[in-house]
Amino acid sequence: MPFFRQPNIWDTAKAAVTPEHVFLNRRQFIRGSIAGGMGLALLSLTGCQKASSSAPDLGNDPLAGTQPLRFGATDLNLPDPGRTTTPRDLTARYNNFYEFGGNKNIWRAAQSLPTENWQVRVHGLIDNPKTYDIDDFTRLFGLEERLYRFRCVEAWAMTVPWVGFPMRKLLEASDPQSSAKFVKFTSFYDERITTGPGWRPGSLPWPYQEGLRIEEMANELAFFATGAYGHSLPKQNGAPIRMVVPWKYGFKGAKSIVDIEFTAEQPATYWNTLGPTEYKFEANVEPQVPHPRWSQAEERVIDSGNPSSWNVEPTLLYNGYGEFVADLYA
Ligand code: MTE
Repeated sequence: MPFFRQPNIWDTAKAAVTPEHVFLNRRQFIRGSIAGGMGLALLSLTGCQKASSSAPDLGNDPLAGTQPLRFGATDLNLPDPGRTTTPRDLTARYNNFYEFGGNKNIWRAAQSLPTENWQVRVHGLIDNPKTYDIDDFTRLFGLEERLYRFRCVEAWAMTVPWVGFPMRKLLEASDPQSSAKFVKFTSFYDERITTGPGWRPGSLPWPYQEGLRIEEMANELAFFATGAYGHSLPKQNGAPIRMVVPWKYGFKGAKSIVDIEFTAEQPATYWNTLGPTEYKFEANVEPQVPHPRWSQAEERVIDSGNPSSWNVEPTLLYNGYGEFVADLYA
């Protein structure tokens, strides 16, 4: 494929592994949003903070900071993903985490994310507001493994064995009030640490936020991952806890969650704020609904470090999870 110019993705920019028109479009789109909607200058390294000097140096191993986890299998009868599991090393080296930069190769920069003593505040229209630490979640809700297909709106796909717990368990423990209709999820953001080029305070709608309808959070597939591949999450994948909503585009899976709020109104979300006609709040995987600037009918399956070997496959409605979620959208 002509847009794959380099054989080794580890050290390449996102442009080398994503169809060039897709990559350029999304980047130009962000620039346009900043220059126009946000009223600020183009992306620029000038004025950016340096990454925290306390960031651990993992050498050339993006998995070196992870620990083995104890977990069980899921009770759900999940569909076979129909393709091989993405190699662990690849999932950890090919990321979207815009707080740490605008290309795929942010795993080193993400090591400045401070994950010690992490707390998640759960509040809003619920009868049991509480601040949890990661051990609280494990103790209360247990850990299980879910092998899910993963589909990014940029038309690349992976298959990842996440470890974590169903969102439904936190929903039940929170005791929502009848007025709670939506749930807002907020990622970690600290302008002294999140250091991506041009990510100056005010230039983009930080912090990264996502949202679900409360019925979507209650769905058996909606998941919080605290690990993957039997180990704690690497920082670049959203440690210590992230959303995984496998029937929606990957941007719905907010990383490094610090705040969960139950609301009556649909919350503002990061990409939907930047481009409401391009990134819908619902964002279900729907191959028949093209993104305004590119088709969603097919996806490139990232299953090796050699982009020229990636298969192009048809995208499935709800990413193949229709039997679990179609009722939500009847
Ligand atoms: N969460 C935060 N906080 N910041 C981000 O930039 N990117 C999203 C999502 N969650 C993003 C995020 C997008 S666009 C995708 S495709 C997935 O994370 C990528 O997850 P991965 O890097 O673990 O594959």
